[in-house]
Amino acid sequence: MSKKTKILLGVTGGIAAYKAAEITRLLIKKGYLVKVIMTRTAEDFITPLTFETLTNEGVYQYNTVIKDKPMLHIDLARWADLILIAPTTAEFLSKIMHGRAEDLLTTTCLAFDKKIVLAPSMNKNMWANKATQENYKALKRRGLIFSGPDFGSQACGDIGTGRMKEPEDIIEDIKSLTKKKLKLFENKKIVITAGPTQEFIDPVRYLSNRSSGMMGCEIANAFYDHGAKVILVKGPCSYKEKDEIDSIEVKSAQDMLLSVENNMSNCDIFVSVAAVSDFIVKDLSKEKIKSENISNLELEKNTDILKTISQKYNIFSIGFAAETSELKSNAIKKLKEKKVSVIAANKVSFSEGIDNENNAITLYWGNGLEKNLGLKNKKDLAIEFVEEISNIYN
Ligand SMILES: Cc1cc2nc3c(=O)[nH]c(=O)nc-3n(C[C@H](O)[C@H](O)[C@H](O)COP(=O)(O)O)c2cc1C
Repeated sequence: MSKKTKILLGVTGGIAAYKAAEITRLLIKKGYLVKVIMTRTAEDFITPLTFETLTNEGVYQYNTVIKDKPMLHIDLARWADLILIAPTTAEFLSKIMHGRAEDLLTTTCLAFDKKIVLAPSMNKNMWANKATQENYKALKRRGLIFSGPDFGSQACGDIGTGRMKEPEDIIEDIKSLTKKKLKLFENKKIVITAGPTQEFIDPVRYLSNRSSGMMGCEIANAFYDHGAKVILVKGPCSYKEKDEIDSIEVKSAQDMLLSVENNMSNCDIFVSVAAVSDFIVKDLSKEKIKSENISNLELEKNTDILKTISQKYNIFSIGFAAETSELKSNAIKKLKEKKVSVIAANKVSFSEGIDNENNAITLYWGNGLEKNLGLKNKKDLAIEFVEEISNIYN
């Protein structure tokens, strides 16, 4: 079976339709398999014969029916890895925005559940028109991808935004969208902890913290996307990792440590993201403590999961350190004392780091090496974190 990426090129009726021939030529030259669907109006601007010659196969027209393929729109939608519409007219933007299915191209787009890339081409006022802009924004929100339009001189003599991106630039966008992603952690087993822990005071009450589990789950997702076998040991939180990830739900630090140790065989990397409660009560009460009897809670230090794992197992370990101040000196101290490979330090306050969609991490490792990953949403940060860990690990 062919491993070539299959592109369905939709050509609509704009003045830039002639450039679709160059796009077809370049796609084939770059090794893509290309089929072309033209709208009825596109044929007023360029003939099907041009594309038939370039692709060496029949072009699909607005009303093409193939006798033994009555579901041509479904067949084409299944065949393609990506649909590129170049040029995309204002009319076509509006049609696709409203989910129209009035010819082969609109119907195929509606039946298609992978990436659709639109390369708009129109007069600057048509592009700036509120109707077009609303269609553009709504389609972007829906996940369609835009390649252009560009600013420049237009066929009508105007200068402004609306001209189609040059064919070479559209091909660059297609290349980066279809690039096979590098799997940085293929065949590696990674155990990750996430979320808070709960430490009982009595059968009703517990000590815990504000961790949402988002950072740990997103790191698990990012390692999974890079081909790792991920085991996620998660304290009580509502944030969800990908369904495909093996996860174990625990409550206390003791449970968490036990689950981590149960999964240490053949483990390559341990990532301790969980906000493990630093304290437990000295004497766990079997009875609910009467409120009038509580004057003092005596606390003692909790199990240190990161230190235990990194000292007991010969493993690459990464610890997260949330600090309210003196980030660097505290991180370096932990790196040495706990004998971990990398410390990912982040600042926390009532409004940053914890229980928040954004985070800022600095990595510390080796003898004085550090890398600031900046402030980002936790999903993007997790992706960058995993890429950076790959550089340090390898
Ligand atoms: C000479 C000429 C040039 C046109 N150029 C454009 C254009 O560049 N962009 C555009 O959005 N519409 C353009 N139109 C309008 C479209 O052809 C018209 O909206 C058509 O219905 C589009 O159909 P389709 O999107 O189904 O191909 C042009 C019309 C004419 C007559």
